[in-house]
Amino acid sequence: MVEVSAGVGPVVGWGILGTANIAARAFLPALRGAGGRAVVVGSRSDVRGAEWAAQHQVERSSSYDAVLGDPEVQAVYLALPNDQHTQWAAAALAAGKVVLCEKPMALDGAQAQRLLAAVPVGGLLWESFVFPFHPQTALISGLIADGRIGDLSEIISEFHFQVGSSANIRLDVARGGGALYDVGCYPLRLGRLLFGAEPVRASGNAVFDGVDRDMAAVVDFPVGRLILSAGLHRPASTFTRIIGTAGELRVSNPFHPRGFDTVELWADGVQEDSWPAAAGSAFQHAITHIQSVITGSVAPQHLATGDALAQALAMDLVRASITDRLSS
Ligand SMILES: NC(=O)c1ccc[n+]([C@@H]2O[C@H](COP(=O)([O-])OP(=O)(O)OC[C@H]3O[C@@H](n4cnc5c(N)ncnc54)[C@H](OP(=O)(O)O)[C@@H]3O)[C@@H](O)[C@H]2O)c1
Repeated sequence: MVEVSAGVGPVVGWGILGTANIAARAFLPALRGAGGRAVVVGSRSDVRGAEWAAQHQVERSSSYDAVLGDPEVQAVYLALPNDQHTQWAAAALAAGKVVLCEKPMALDGAQAQRLLAAVPVGGLLWESFVFPFHPQTALISGLIADGRIGDLSEIISEFHFQVGSSANIRLDVARGGGALYDVGCYPLRLGRLLFGAEPVRASGNAVFDGVDRDMAAVVDFPVGRLILSAGLHRPASTFTRIIGTAGELRVSNPFHPRGFDTVELWADGVQEDSWPAAAGSAFQHAITHIQSVITGSVAPQHLATGDALAQALAMDLVRASITDRLSS
């Protein structure tokens, strides 16, 4: 059921699976900014769910199954550990919900294929790479298309941050942890988007500590290459250089730009131009898009059905290149 509030238009009701840090920190503020309704959070624990709902102004709490059966929920934000994404995304789709599933949607290409085969006709599923919806990504694509850096030939992109607790799901191999799944997936998604092609070869390396805590890879595309570096134990950085034959874009945060982030155009060591990131979080732009699709005002873009299998196969290629090194 989609509510209509006076003067504002239809309000989409959302359910959240998991009392997740990302749901509290990024999704809910963005949902409020996008005018959505936080109807219910699902938790494995009644007590944790109730406390979390009260703390984060979600109307009620319940089990995961009850979220999927809730008639006031049109869309589900799935913020569970990586190993549970495909199972709950399939259940939510079967329950008739629109699904925004956290990245990585699947742990490998085979899982992605099985989930996508189960998407019902007319079903809407997004993998939560939200940066393609941020205006900064359109700016970058536009600058490349306008020839401002010449022919795109190389992307050097990193995503590092410090995991604070040894109990974090990112450090647990059984939960689908590791640097590539958690953050290395972003530069890869960016490379696929900007090169407009799929990778053909990867050569990688990683430091393993139960999971790949730190990894790097050179990923060849049919034209051009991505050099990516990702890890869970360094101060935060998402610095990215998008390099062409006539210049380069230096992007402080292509993935979750905030007000102080910039895109700079450089040529021959001289800064020629600079653009601040547009307002609104990438999550807010993505949620706004999804709600507009649900209420019928725009056609869907960046659906998982069009992209997530290729992303999972690209991840397989890079993962094989770091694990091959481990076993040799
Ligand atoms: N798109 C982005 O920008 C972005 C950013 C950060 C994270 N993420 C993704 O979001 C997802 C959640 O990350 P997070 O850091 O928010 O995780 P988190 O704080 O650890 O939350 C995960 C939630 O999953 C539930 N859960 C179910 N089974 C679990 C298990 N065996 N162990 C631990 N928790 C379990 C828990 O909720 P209950 O116990 O209440 O059921 C828990 O609160 C991951 O897939 C991550 O890759 C995406």
